[in-house]
Amino acid sequence: MSSSKQEVAAKDPSHCGGGEGREAVDRIITGRFASRSFTSRAVPKQTIEDILDVARFAPSGANIQPWNVYVLGGSEKEEVSRALLEAHNKARDQHKSEYQYYATELPEPYLSRRNQFGRLFYGSLGIEQADLVGRAGQTSKNYGFFGAPVGLIVTIDRRLQVGSWLDLGMFVQNVMIAAGARGLQTCPQETFSKYHIVLREFLPIPAEQMVVCGVSIGFAEDELVSSGRLMPRVAVSEFTRFIGFED
Ligand SMILES: Cc1cc2nc3c(=O)[nH]c(=O)nc-3n(C[C@H](O)[C@H](O)[C@H](O)COP(=O)(O)O)c2cc1C
Repeated sequence: MSSSKQEVAAKDPSHCGGGEGREAVDRIITGRFASRSFTSRAVPKQTIEDILDVARFAPSGANIQPWNVYVLGGSEKEEVSRALLEAHNKARDQHKSEYQYYATELPEPYLSRRNQFGRLFYGSLGIEQADLVGRAGQTSKNYGFFGAPVGLIVTIDRRLQVGSWLDLGMFVQNVMIAAGARGLQTCPQETFSKYHIVLREFLPIPAEQMVVCGVSIGFAEDELVSSGRLMPRVAVSEFTRFIGFED
């Protein structure tokens, strides 16, 4: 059991309601992890429709619902993946995301957390941090949606402001939770934003929309599910101050 699961399981539920529903929701949220290896088991179109049908109940400022989703499957997904891989292998310097995901200089504590991510992630794959070829090989797996049978491409209208990106994040999290409730795993992927020009060749993305991220959806390899989350989380006390509460 991962440490986050232990922390949640150890809590006394008597002070909060919800019973079974609470346990199920907690389990799905804490059981989600970024899956980077999927089986070829198909996911029916209806399941993705159901997931999106639930995810659309995400809140959004003034209820503007700023999400757009392109669902890729079958041979079309393979074709898009091939084109993305080719662009990545042959011309990666000529492609650029339309937005900046990370701050150019990450301040602490984020820099240390990113370094820890690199150590844990590449360590788990047996890739040395200095092995640039090995790391590039791992990055390229993003473009095949890590073998998942379904890939989403999520876009937002570029005329909207940063608040709408908050709404979009809630929608994407809803997608991942609803997928988790159906025994599926997911991986949110900002890497797709870099190749928006390639994606536009295949998808009817209007000029005013920006590619924000992709989401791989499928059944994770059993060993990934049983080993659980690799990435730790800081304790609640590290990011929270309670004000006006008794102990
Ligand atoms: C918006 C967003 C974009 C991400 N982009 C990528 C990506 O391009 N490729 C990837 O392998 N993981 C990506 N991740 C996954 C993160 O690395 C992962 O969520 C983080 O390390 C925590 O691990 P966990 O989700 O397994 O708990 C992304 C996550 C988010 C939320």
